[in-house]
Amino acid sequence: NRVVALIVAAGKGERAGGDVPKQFRMLAGRPLVAHAFDRLAAHPGVDAVLVVGEEEPLRDALGDRPLLGIAPGGATRRLSVRAGLEAIEALGGADIVLIHDAARPFTPTAVIDRLLAPLETSPGAVPTLPVADTLAKHGAALGEVVDRDALVRVQTPQAFRFDDIMTSHRAWRAEQEPTDDAQMARAAGFDVALVAGDPMLEKITRAEDFAAAEARLGARSF
Ligand code: CTP
Ligand code: MG
Repeated sequence: NRVVALIVAAGKGERAGGDVPKQFRMLAGRPLVAHAFDRLAAHPGVDAVLVVGEEEPLRDALGDRPLLGIAPGGATRRLSVRAGLEAIEALGGADIVLIHDAARPFTPTAVIDRLLAPLETSPGAVPTLPVADTLAKHGAALGEVVDRDALVRVQTPQAFRFDDIMTSHRAWRAEQEPTDDAQMARAAGFDVALVAGDPMLEKITRAEDFAAAEARLGARSF
């Protein structure tokens, strides 16, 4: 099984602010996207890594790390993933793809183990965490509460059979932009297994998330 990791790093990072897009910001001596690369490339089951984004800053951030390739991003996360999938196909394809956000720098090895195991029988697998807060709908006068036990928070990396997620992207016609790839796989009729996620995979979205991520890194050895 050829397993290729696809890191999307083409966003503008508007909510995080700062001088450079968040994926290029330094954290504990390395740009965020380099952390993301290193954690995926370190897994023995991962054969190659392709990164989606702007070529020059990515080459600067990644130095001499071995890349399958760099593909230019798209206007939305979905289109950036699509561009990466097309590039992987053009570079010889893959059996399994691990689609990952550069904004989640610290993928634990054990999460990748948990994602790859169900791919023996399932078209896809995603890491999830339970919801801790009470959830309520906007504007409901008395706070119409949603049953949180019926919900999970979905993280990346997300593992898919390459051909199935390519089919799902090509079939996607909805008006709304999806926020991840698992919802496209489900919409195309492919089962997606849920495995346990990890707090290390929290996404860096806002400026204050950098300090929290640094603290998590300091407390953890992979
Ligand atoms: N991403 C991408 N191409 C886009 C939009 C997002 O590759 N057109 C990537 C981001 O680089 C990030 C991941 O998708 O690694 C998750 O997106 P998000 O956290 O929303 O990042 P941004 O879109 O960059 O941030 P914001 O929405 O705050 O502008
Ligand atoms: Mg975004």
